[in-house]
Amino acid sequence: MSKLFIAVEVFHGAGSLEELKNIKGKKAVLVTGGSSMKKSGTLDKAIAYLNEAGIETKIYEGVEEDPSSETCFKGAELMKEFQPDWIVGIGGCSAIDAAKMMWVFYEYPDADFEAMIKPFSVPTLRNKAKFIAIPSTSGTGTETTGLAVITDREKGVKYPIVSYELTPDIAIIDGEICASMPAHVTSNTGLDALTHCVEAYVSNIDNNFADALSKGGLKIVFDNLKEAVQNPNNITARQNMHDASFMGGLAFNNAWLGIVHSLSHQVGALFGVPHGACNAIFLPNVIRFNSKESSRFPDLAKVIGKETTEELAQAIETLRSEVNNQSAIKEFGISREDWDKNLDFMANNAFLDPCTGFNPRKPTVEELKDIYNACYEGLVYSEEKVLNAAL
Ligand SMILES: [Fe+2]
Repeated sequence: MSKLFIAVEVFHGAGSLEELKNIKGKKAVLVTGGSSMKKSGTLDKAIAYLNEAGIETKIYEGVEEDPSSETCFKGAELMKEFQPDWIVGIGGCSAIDAAKMMWVFYEYPDADFEAMIKPFSVPTLRNKAKFIAIPSTSGTGTETTGLAVITDREKGVKYPIVSYELTPDIAIIDGEICASMPAHVTSNTGLDALTHCVEAYVSNIDNNFADALSKGGLKIVFDNLKEAVQNPNNITARQNMHDASFMGGLAFNNAWLGIVHSLSHQVGALFGVPHGACNAIFLPNVIRFNSKESSRFPDLAKVIGKETTEELAQAIETLRSEVNNQSAIKEFGISREDWDKNLDFMANNAFLDPCTGFNPRKPTVEELKDIYNACYEGLVYSEEKVLNAAL
């Protein structure tokens, strides 16, 4: 038996933010990041719609990129004072992920963060509040996933908190909100969505629903990402990418991810490389690595008019450069010395990352190091270690 986990209500389409008018409740805390939601007017619109619904609001703003557990505790404090029955995560993935964990600490002030690192150990939520996710970027799919990524800066580790409890009750997928997203964010997050579609499709969990969503999402990304990057005001391309992000998120919420994410989590936490950019560098080589154990890549290649696994990997490399993304980790200014110093630590953590358990091929720590090194230099990974052919 399998269960499909999905946000209870999903409103999608340009202008769907307006659905907030129809929410039933008394008080909402809106959690957001820096200032983009304010500047674009989206935050004010959301508040106006909630007020129209008779809901009193409070804002927690300033969630940082890669939010820390301290931020989550702070937000929970505000919620304890205000006692909302709705929590609204509005903005980028960081804001929504932080809002999810604030929700946990609001409902369970004594919850043990360390204990929740173990997958599926978040206690039962919705005793005090329900959750609305309104993403402003098109990639992570956090609006439909039971995942929140929280960073421990002291340890240099990103913890994916995994629990179906964290799946939002309502998701609003409004492409108009993305119009102000800068080109490099559109590009990074779009490549993250693409990675979700690929990893969910080949994961070791069979799920027909996830398969269809992965294939559909992948095609939409290939058809729309370049346009969304080049013509940011094309709301059709924006909405399509927003839909693809949701589809990828829904796919991986039910079939999970693989070692692209395991590898990326470490590089993001230690060196601050954007998540989607890391994924886009690791993905082609992980496809090559996984192809020994998975025969599913040609299915995905066909979706984009290609035939073979290698053609799929190369098409991703081409799209990556067309949307101006990097092809090597070293391009982010990380010295070889720093890289080598942290390689064992990263490979060991990647091996232990929850996503590794869903990868179609079980890697060794040594193999993870080989993939890391190939991607640091921007080389093609092969079983005979690394070919010295530049990508
Ligand atoms: Fe991701």
